[in-house]
Amino acid sequence: MNLQIAPSILNANFADLRSELAKINEADWLHLDIMDGHFVPNLTFGPPVVAMLRSVTTLPMDAHLMVDNPEELIPAFAEAGVERITVHVESTKHIHRLIQQIKAAGCSAGVALNPGTPLDSLDYILSELSLVMLMTVNPGFGGQKFIPEVLPKISLLRGKLDKEGFSCDIGVDGGINLETAREVIKAGANHLVAGTLIYKATDPAGMIKKLRVIAQGEA
Ligand code: DX5
Ligand code: ZN
Repeated sequence: MNLQIAPSILNANFADLRSELAKINEADWLHLDIMDGHFVPNLTFGPPVVAMLRSVTTLPMDAHLMVDNPEELIPAFAEAGVERITVHVESTKHIHRLIQQIKAAGCSAGVALNPGTPLDSLDYILSELSLVMLMTVNPGFGGQKFIPEVLPKISLLRGKLDKEGFSCDIGVDGGINLETAREVIKAGANHLVAGTLIYKATDPAGMIKKLRVIAQGEA
């Protein structure tokens, strides 16, 4: 299994992001939680900060856009240097057009689904995606409790991708700890976003290693 660990800096020390990034060199992706205070009731950071992060990390960056009108922000995030832009299917009336816009801007496209959103919305876009992100909390804040009802949704998606021959990654985002990591990997996820688990750990690099060991156990 191609396990990918994607730390979220949402719970990192924003006054010292350079040192915070140095703690996660062993990760596979950097997960950037972009919130606008409208789509979700919280506000984080935007393209200027992301452009500066680009200069202090070599990890590929995924901008998880939790914003209304995401189409307005695609050019600025692409310009800031992210490799992937992940958009919520609930944030647009035109998901197919939005994916094309992301790809035309030179990034790969991910689509995120809130916990209550069914998989059907992916039916005609899977071939365009490098990642499907299944939210395991309602987006907006770090440190929330994992919603176990999403587990069968992960298995269902894994079955569908395998059956139909799609190679995109299955991400999970929210409430990942050593216990829930085991459950989501078992269900078929291979891209794990983790904020609190990694940034509240005394040894973030050691925590990333522990997640890899768990994945080996479930492989
Ligand atoms: C939730 C964000 C997540 C979250 C992960 O809205 O999309 O990326 O910050 O944080 P933890 O791991 O603390 O749940
Ligand atoms: Zn996220």
